[in-house]
Amino acid sequence: MATALTADQQIQELREELRHHEHLYYALDAPELTDAQYDALMNRLKKLEADHPELVTPDSPTQRVGGKPREGFAKVAHSRPMLSLDNAYNEEELRAWEQRVRSGLPAAEKLQFVCELKLDGLSLALQYGPGAHGSAHLERGVTRGDGTIGEDVTTNVRTIRSVPLSIAAKKLKEAGLPESFEVRGEVVLPQLAFMKMNEERVAAGMAPAANPRNAAAGTIRTLEPNIVAQRRLDFYAYFLLRDGETLLPSHTETLQALKTAGFRVNAHAKTVKTIEEVVAFIAVAEDLRETLGYEIDGVVIKVDSASQQRRLGFTGKAPRWAIAYKFAARAAVTKLEGVLFQVGRTGKVTPVAALTPVVVGGTTVSRATLHNADEIARLGVRIGDYVQVERGGDVIPKIVEVVEDKDHPRGKKEIVFPQSCPVCDSELMRVEGEVDWRCVNNACPARVREELLHWAARGVMNIEGLGDAMVVQLLGQSAASVNEEEVSEEGAPVVERTALVHTIADLYRLTQEQLLGLERVGEKTADALLAQIERSKKAGLARVLLGLGVRFVGERTAQLLAEHFGSMEALMVASAEELEAVNEVGPKVAQAIVEYFAIEKNQQLVSELASLGLTVTAEKRVVGTALAGLTFVLTGTLPTLTRDEAKAKIESAGGKVSGSVSKKTSFVVAGDDAGSKLEKAQQLGVNVLDEAGLLEMLT
Ligand code: IVH
Repeated sequence: MATALTADQQIQELREELRHHEHLYYALDAPELTDAQYDALMNRLKKLEADHPELVTPDSPTQRVGGKPREGFAKVAHSRPMLSLDNAYNEEELRAWEQRVRSGLPAAEKLQFVCELKLDGLSLALQYGPGAHGSAHLERGVTRGDGTIGEDVTTNVRTIRSVPLSIAAKKLKEAGLPESFEVRGEVVLPQLAFMKMNEERVAAGMAPAANPRNAAAGTIRTLEPNIVAQRRLDFYAYFLLRDGETLLPSHTETLQALKTAGFRVNAHAKTVKTIEEVVAFIAVAEDLRETLGYEIDGVVIKVDSASQQRRLGFTGKAPRWAIAYKFAARAAVTKLEGVLFQVGRTGKVTPVAALTPVVVGGTTVSRATLHNADEIARLGVRIGDYVQVERGGDVIPKIVEVVEDKDHPRGKKEIVFPQSCPVCDSELMRVEGEVDWRCVNNACPARVREELLHWAARGVMNIEGLGDAMVVQLLGQSAASVNEEEVSEEGAPVVERTALVHTIADLYRLTQEQLLGLERVGEKTADALLAQIERSKKAGLARVLLGLGVRFVGERTAQLLAEHFGSMEALMVASAEELEAVNEVGPKVAQAIVEYFAIEKNQQLVSELASLGLTVTAEKRVVGTALAGLTFVLTGTLPTLTRDEAKAKIESAGGKVSGSVSKKTSFVVAGDDAGSKLEKAQQLGVNVLDEAGLLEMLT
């Protein structure tokens, strides 16, 4: 007779199963279950845990929303520091470097250089260790961090397709690699992926990333591996180490071995013998720059021989055997024809320069942001001026300065910041201490349009089919009427039709009949949109909160708030102090939330959304109070708990975990091989616990 499993056993099994599927989904991007099947498993576990609350543990998948890794990233020391490079900005500096290299080596020695593109991304170390059947498998991916200590971003790194997760024994042999080694290289975000990401960010009311490098860095550090997988990062390998030492006798061989082993190695690398050849390579690279599809900001030149590299050694933070030749910024001079004022979701008015179209680094530029009134004052720019426009790694060009000489006379017309909203003519307000002017009218068509677009955006409520064109129609306007350029003479938008939607809540009242009355909307489109809107009702509290567009409340904050308060009701009445009790919520954010919910219209919107059937509750993460107000520092290896487990236990009991010991530290929890942190604790007289001591405090 089969014995029934105990609740505890069932819970354990379900957790295992859920973790397995989360891994398939998030890390391997190869789900085996449909969302519904996954939800069914999760619901069974939730129910069992609800019946047996004593069996709930902080590491249960029910305690994480959306399968996210809850903790930040663990810190990892590099086997050998990840250095930066010295720069050369012209041929003279390049030749001076060559001289230094030559004078550091015996005169008779032959030199070779390898020229590579300087990829504008972030460097990453991949550690491989022995896998099954003589293979090597990816153990860890670590960011550069401060060069000595980086962050363990393995889960995210696994989603990068050009990072091999394992390398078969045969390939290792062919490449001459051992089972354990470290590969270093650059993570880049291709330009197309960067533009797409920024469009999404802007639609979601977030600031666009300044350039692909920042975007790549942000992506690799997000806590959502599925987002990383969508972003299509690339990894180019350029270094190979074993036990912190260069493995092969030359860099040329290293690149070849990496390629053989299955790493992506940038195709534009060349081994050369003279500086003339280096200079020629640089010229080719400058031309290539516009067509690569990813950003480069120069050329890296490395001494080929590993033995010479070793003998040349390092100065401070950079090797003597390599140099980065940096390209000049891409800039051009053009005329400022006029200034447009755009109104964003928060009512913020942004001045945008209208320029005589000019080609800057291969791209025609006709607009550049002027940011705000202060920036205009700082530049001292007038309409009719000639200005220097620069495009860095970013796609958004900026005005650097006003150009004035005999060919470029000054303009005459002052830029007048509007006194009222360029779209609805309402008053503009500037909060003390802030630079931005904002339209005070919450119902300003430009603002409502942005609000709706933000609500519908991917990563927020994910309503497909509710893009710009549809929103404009729903607002009963033609695209031009809410656009900054074609405002009618009186400055008010030309309203052509009656609006179907005035607020976010109205979206949930739309009918098929109404939609069929719009241009280019057939039954199929109408039904698809209604289905999307209906589906979005289930997005959950965190998404709703994000969708409302409260200032400073981004994805992560929304998530933390949802988990902490568990319902919109609780959140709406929370005081600033109660809000600040949430991890990562500071006074500025708390204040913005309090202000948002103090406005009656916002309260009304939220209650309408709830009565229209949107989910405005979340699973509350139960945080105990046993360790409230106490700060812990973990050091050394604990006998049974991993760092992450210990951290989770402390945090779920209301305690905080910090990385460094200070007078404010309440306890240092020390395991085996505890180092300087333990010493520091002893010096400062901070209490020291072992694991058993910690566990005792937790019970
Ligand atoms: S070699 C010790 N090669 O540039 C040598 N770096 O400015 C370190 N980079 O931190 C790096 N492309 O992130 C090397 N082909 C390339 C590179 C490259 C981009 C980055 C790297 C490094 C930074 C230094």
